[in-house]
Order: sequence, then C-alpha cells, then structure tokens
Amino acid sequence: MVEGGTVVSTEGRVRADVVVAGEKILALVAPGAAAGLLVPGAARVAAEGRLVLPGGVDVHTHLDMPLGELRSADDFARGTEAAALGGTTSVVDFAVQARGGGPLAGLAEWRARAEGRAVVDYGFHAILSEPGEDALAELPSLVSEGVSSVKVFTAYPGRLYADDGRILRTMQVAADHGVLCMVHAENGIAIDVLVSQALARGEVTAAAHAATRPVVLEAEATHRAICLARVARCPLYVVHLSSAEALAAVRRARRLGQPVLAETCPQYLWLDEALLGGSDGERFVCSPPLRGARHRRALWQGIARGDLQTVATDHCPFCLADRQRWARIDFSRIPNGLPGIEHRLDLLHQGVVSGLIGLERMVELAATTPAKLFGLWPAKGSLLPGADADLVVYDPGRRHELSARTHHMAVEYSAYEGMEVTGAVETVVSRGEVVVGAGRYVGRAGRGRYLARPAGTVGWPEDPGAVGDDDDDR
Ligand code: URP
Ligand code: ZN
Ligand code: ZN
Repeated sequence: MVEGGTVVSTEGRVRADVVVAGEKILALVAPGAAAGLLVPGAARVAAEGRLVLPGGVDVHTHLDMPLGELRSADDFARGTEAAALGGTTSVVDFAVQARGGGPLAGLAEWRARAEGRAVVDYGFHAILSEPGEDALAELPSLVSEGVSSVKVFTAYPGRLYADDGRILRTMQVAADHGVLCMVHAENGIAIDVLVSQALARGEVTAAAHAATRPVVLEAEATHRAICLARVARCPLYVVHLSSAEALAAVRRARRLGQPVLAETCPQYLWLDEALLGGSDGERFVCSPPLRGARHRRALWQGIARGDLQTVATDHCPFCLADRQRWARIDFSRIPNGLPGIEHRLDLLHQGVVSGLIGLERMVELAATTPAKLFGLWPAKGSLLPGADADLVVYDPGRRHELSARTHHMAVEYSAYEGMEVTGAVETVVSRGEVVVGAGRYVGRAGRGRYLARPAGTVGWPEDPGAVGDDDDDR
C-alpha cells in the first residue's frame, strides 16, 4: 500500500491511499480507510507530503542498438534501471529491420536482447529500414506478435530513408491493419546536399550540425508526411518534433480533424542549439538538432494547448570516446542521439515548477497518453483499480542537480550537466514490487515483461466529412 500521498491523474488530484494486491491496484481509498483491504505481508510505502503518479511510459528509446561498428551505450539492463530510477516503468523501444532482412527477424533479435535483462516492462515498435512490399507483408504477423506501430524515415538516405511512394504504401498497409505509422520527418535528401556543401567549405565541427538540418526541412517533411497520411487515410505519429514550424503543420492538420499525433523530447524543451558550438559540441548532436529559444517557447505552448500529445526521451546514448573519435573526422560522422531516459519526469516537472503546465498535464504527457496511443492503457499509465501497480512516489520539493557524477546511465557525460531541478523520484513500484527506494534500484535483475500491444488504438474518422478540406485540396 502507498499511504498518505496526493494521487495525481489526468482528472485531478486527490489525497488517497493506493491499495495494491499482488501486481495490481485494488483500490484508492480515503487516507487511513484501507484496514479491511490490506493484504498481509504487502509492502507499505509512506507517501505523506508526496505525489503519487502513474509509472511513466517512455515510448521512444534505443537500448542496445547497433549503429555501424558502434552500439548505444545502455543495454536493456542498465537502460531500464536508469529508466526506473527516473520514474519510468514501461518503455517501448525500436526493433530495427536489418537491411536485406525482415522486420519480424528484427523483432526476434530485439526481444532476445531485452528478455531476462530489462527490469521494467517493455514493448517494441518496428523500424522499417526498407519498407518494400516484402517488409509490409509482415505487418499482420508483427501485429500478432504485439507490435502495432512502425517507424519510417524521410531522413538518413542510404540507411533508413524511404521515398514518398514507400511511405505512402507503408501508411496504406498500416491503415489496413490498425498499425500506427510513426515518421522521422526531416528532408534527408536536401540535408545531405547541405552537409556536403558545409564540408566542402571546411565547416567540419558540430557547430554546423544544426545549420545543415534547418527548421524548414523539418517542417516540409512533417507537412509531406501529413499529406501522405491524409491520402492513405492513416493516423500519423510524428516522432521527436523539434520546431515551431513543424508544430504549426501538425496543429493545422489536427484542426482540420486529421488524426495526427506528435511527440517532443526533453532535449528540445530545455537545451539550446548554441551547445553545438561549444568545445564539447559533439555531445549534443541529435536529429532533428537542438533549436533556439523561439522553438522551445512554441513547444511548451504546443504542450499546454494539446497540439503535442507525448514527451518521450529518444534515449540514444553513445559514449564520449565514440562521439569524439568520429567528431575528429567531421560532424556528419558523429553518432546521433542524446542520453536522457533517467531524467524525463524531472525535466517535465520543471515545466510544472515554471508554471508552464499543470501536474495533471504532466501525467498525461509522461504516462497516460503514451499508454493510450500505443495500446498499453489502462494496464499502464493509470492508477485505476485493476491497472498494473506501476507507480511513482515523487517528492515535488526536493532539489537536486543533474550530473554524470550521479546519474545511472552508462554514458560518462550528461546532456544536462549542472542543471538544478526541483522534484525527485523517491520510490518506484512496478507491478506491485518496490524497485526503487532511496535513489537506488532495489528490484530483481531481468524482471521486466514483454508488452504485446494490440493494434487499432487510433483510427481514421468513419465520417468522411470529419477531416476538413484545405482550401487548395481539390
Ligand atoms: O538523433 C537521434 N534522434 N537519434 C536516434 C535515432 C532517431 O532518429 O530517432
Ligand atoms: Zn528518428
Ligand atoms: Zn529515436
């Protein structure tokens, strides 16, 4: 039982005791009223003066991911321990289709990596690195295996890029099977031209990374993905959205009634592109790149008014030696991605502390909406009776500093080094087990369970008039 805390849900806050029976939530009762419901021997967690939140659901991570000769630094054991320590009790990682292979084989490979190692529950999206007809023919089997979302790329030509025809076909097949189509939206073909031109001018440092991936090329690709999704009548989820202009494209489509969903990440909410120009700029290379203050303001506004639905980490850590080695050649070789799986809740809570969002919205962004969109709700992302007993006791007043000296991720640096935050995870319960206490992981090794996720969580409106026309649509 979790006693005496303030339980926060998307609906509001209430002082209540949370009664846990085995792996599930049995009831929420008035403080002190649980006597007849207590399970003998069950752990009792004191939460007086604390918030009690649904366990976080991070739907964008890259654990143990090979990239050429490199590998993302956190494997499923270390990465999910760090996730748990940061208040995340479910992750949805990406299983990558090898080129020349199929997405089902990719899923088998990633499940083998996570099985017996992950300490929180985990599921997978499929990355379609070659979304041809052979790969698309595997979508029904992927759904049977519990994978109900696929990611395609308008970026990274020669590696992950898919042209508009392939993306359209992916969306058509996804729509037929209730699969949510996720798009990495940057115009990779144009970006490659800008990168070559920058290198030819001798601009080789990380400072050139953002300039060669301009906002307009994210906005264009986002708009294009929205148009293709509209033609395919397929719900769309835009991953790691970073800019005001890409957000405006999403907002416009949503106002026309099109089911377009979008995620942003803590790094786009807090970190500035100027970091790329520093002597350690290689630490901050991710794609889309970090942006300026105007974009951060727009993203917070988008979060507050519902244009952005989720905040996920895109945790993709590469150790410093790997980043520096490739940075010595030029910025385009630096492995992309930032570490952050441990800090999502704290960084979102800074939005609460700064008055940008309320606690209820924080819960929606970090737990409830990602769980709903990706087929995990109500078992995950809620504290309703019958849900999995995944919860976080959060001390909203404790101040601490984010630093590589204290974090639990494998990388030797923190993208947020020295940032003072208010609010800290105190205790984490996963399926009824206390897994984090006093800042330490105390759960069993490899206890995480595979999450099979049903398809069809987001549909296209039945009513043909529900999705409005653009003026220039005909
Ligand atoms: O730079 C990033 N975002 N790396 C992770 C891979 C991806 O595109 O999500
Ligand atoms: Zn991406
Ligand atoms: Zn990613």
